[in-house]
Amino acid sequence: MSSETSKFHEAKKAAAVLKHAVLDRYVTPFASKTGSTSKDQRVAFIDGYAGPGRYDDGAEGSGAMLLRKAKELASMSSPRQVECHFVENDPATAARLQEVANDEGVGVTYTITDGNVSKHLPVLLDAVEEIPVFVYLDPCGLPIPFDQVAAIFARPSGPGTPPTEVLINLTAHLRRFAGMLYSDKAIENSLKTADSAFGGEWWRAAWLEKCPTKHANEDAKKAAELAVVEGYAQRLRDKAGGLGTWIIDVKPRANLRPVYYLVFATRSIHGMVAFGEAASKGLEQWRKHIAEQDAQDDLFGAAADWEADWKVEEAKLKTQWIDALTKRLVDELAKGEAFRIIDRAEEVLGSDLVGAVRGLHLRQAIKNALSAGATTTDPKGVDDLYTLLLTPA
Ligand SMILES: C[S@@+](CC[C@H](N)C(=O)[O-])C[C@H]1O[C@@H](n2cnc3c(N)ncnc32)[C@H](O)[C@@H]1O
Repeated sequence: MSSETSKFHEAKKAAAVLKHAVLDRYVTPFASKTGSTSKDQRVAFIDGYAGPGRYDDGAEGSGAMLLRKAKELASMSSPRQVECHFVENDPATAARLQEVANDEGVGVTYTITDGNVSKHLPVLLDAVEEIPVFVYLDPCGLPIPFDQVAAIFARPSGPGTPPTEVLINLTAHLRRFAGMLYSDKAIENSLKTADSAFGGEWWRAAWLEKCPTKHANEDAKKAAELAVVEGYAQRLRDKAGGLGTWIIDVKPRANLRPVYYLVFATRSIHGMVAFGEAASKGLEQWRKHIAEQDAQDDLFGAAADWEADWKVEEAKLKTQWIDALTKRLVDELAKGEAFRIIDRAEEVLGSDLVGAVRGLHLRQAIKNALSAGATTTDPKGVDDLYTLLLTPA
């Protein structure tokens, strides 16, 4: 393997570390919380683009992870009955997943469907209509049409109805499709595939507004990509009739462009808060993985102390984030009205800190604002800082 190819695989792997770290940290709180009041403590996970369950080197993919989670949740002191539904349209990959499930899914309720998620998702949604569901959609290319994703939120909403959440991996091929917007050739059919995935032609104008010519620089391309992802998240939020979405950009290195974006949609404030925590911890684990990887690539061994260096970098990030949060909170408080961070997510977290920061950073920033005399609100003993009402001093 050339070093370029091997770097490509490493970058892909690093990116997968992030999505799996977020998944690993999120599904347990989701199932514990929603299963506490659900029928027979049942909760469903649907993995629509399931993959082989484990990678060639034995590392956990989403299949093995969700089966493990189901077993862990069944053995808690207040057990949850988690069922896993996998769809995988490549027969050989579905067979590998079946082997993993034979070995690791003993005692777990699961289904493996060898077929197209477009066709099987509605059937699975019917099967789990009475219980909470978390749907994970992780395609290699463009996802299923937007209308089919939005249909997940056709499940009932409101008090007493089972929660519905979606995590979708977006845009692996967005740039390729956007490139066609500048071409004179008849490529309308390909563009229509993207229209269907994004829920209409709106994404073309959103892209072109930020990136009017194909010679635009990298920053313009990144802005265009983010505009499309934000438009998608906004549309999904509208369909969910719900509270919010998190967008996490996944970059193989801090200074490189994102390789994909994770869009999370929920109707629940608890979901928003718990996913924010999971994303922040997942990103931290991913930065550690990158630091270790960089050290291994260093032929001269100068980075032997990579873990100590990584900790120093993490401490710097923590200080930067808390300083930025403190300033934003003080600015918002200066407007003179009490507010909750969850309602000012854009102003306080912005696209730079969303998913990166978590409760511990927010807590310190609120304490700083209190010491600075900007608020009278003390975060001491408060668990959920996103919904804490911050009152100007
Ligand atoms: C990125 S991989 C999944 C990785 C896995 N979710 C994980 O996190 O470990 C995408 C998988 O989706 C499968 N796939 C592609 N199109 C599909 C479709 N329309 N329906 C179901 N599976 C599909 C591919 O064969 C591939 O195994």
